[in-house]
Amino acid sequence: MLEVEVAGMKLRNPVMLASGILGSKHSSLLRIAEFAGAVVSKSVGVERREGYRNPAVLNRKCCIVNAVGLASPGAEVFSGELREFSMKSKTPLVVSLFASRPDEFASLADYFPFASAFELNLSCPHAENAGMVLGVDEKLVKKCVQVIKDVTDKPVLAKLTPNVTDIVDIGRAAEEGGADAVVAVNTVKAMAVDIFSRKPVLSNIRGGMSGKALKGIALRCVWDLYEELEIPVIGCGGISSWKDALEFILAGASAVQVGSAFYYSYRAIEGIVRGLEEYLRLTGEKIKDLIGAAHENA
Ligand SMILES: Cc1cc2nc3c(=O)[nH]c(=O)nc-3n(C[C@H](O)[C@H](O)[C@H](O)COP(=O)(O)O)c2cc1C
Repeated sequence: MLEVEVAGMKLRNPVMLASGILGSKHSSLLRIAEFAGAVVSKSVGVERREGYRNPAVLNRKCCIVNAVGLASPGAEVFSGELREFSMKSKTPLVVSLFASRPDEFASLADYFPFASAFELNLSCPHAENAGMVLGVDEKLVKKCVQVIKDVTDKPVLAKLTPNVTDIVDIGRAAEEGGADAVVAVNTVKAMAVDIFSRKPVLSNIRGGMSGKALKGIALRCVWDLYEELEIPVIGCGGISSWKDALEFILAGASAVQVGSAFYYSYRAIEGIVRGLEEYLRLTGEKIKDLIGAAHENA
């Protein structure tokens, strides 16, 4: 009932763990992998990175605002941690990569021969153009996907930033580069001010917003991408219940990713999977037949 095939990966259910939520330890990934259709690792770059100092994550009712700054132990150390995971779990492992220029993505792939797929985090600052992230430029996005497709046979998912004028143009560039799927979306640019100290809350001042408040934006991105692209779309942003997940699937998502919901419940994915299962049991349908169904009624 719940099985889907996305970008060549067979998933027992369409609910994936989103990147960056559970830190770098394989033990926490293993717990989530008991229920998730797939898990996506925290993004990793070649070198170790400290990230921004605290406060780096702000938890509000409507949303999470974070500026973690891609803290990462570096590819070599992280590879050891993820290898442990891959030896102990059959759940597909998607390794999320970040880089500050396209060619760096290629050098990262070698560290993770056990990955089921790679996800490219395109929301990273460009090395030669401070302030601009790779994912806002169509040519760079196409190039990032091409260079990694040249060195691996594994599926490549391009994770898109919503901080662009037209996400479909960027999605199309990823598709032209050879991406096997797009993930929509990463966080929306945001910030918060503390009214007592009268200072910005995050040490980095600016961050990215995720959680419930992001849902409508992410859903619209999925809808638009589904209409224009041939490759599958994976929905991500503000999903915390099975009803949210179903909304994304009806809008065109072949699978969904869940991130911030873990700040409110450690059993978020389990609850979503069970809810979808029960819904399908009642309607007698299969999830794969519901992908994009809302477009027929629009
Ligand atoms: C604390 C935190 C860290 C994140 N780290 C990453 C990351 O390393 N790589 C990435 O691609 N996305 C990262 N994200 C973005 C999420 O994977 C996801 O795209 C976003 O939060 C929207 O989904 P959500 O509303 O379910 O959280 C992070 C989000 C949060 C809240």
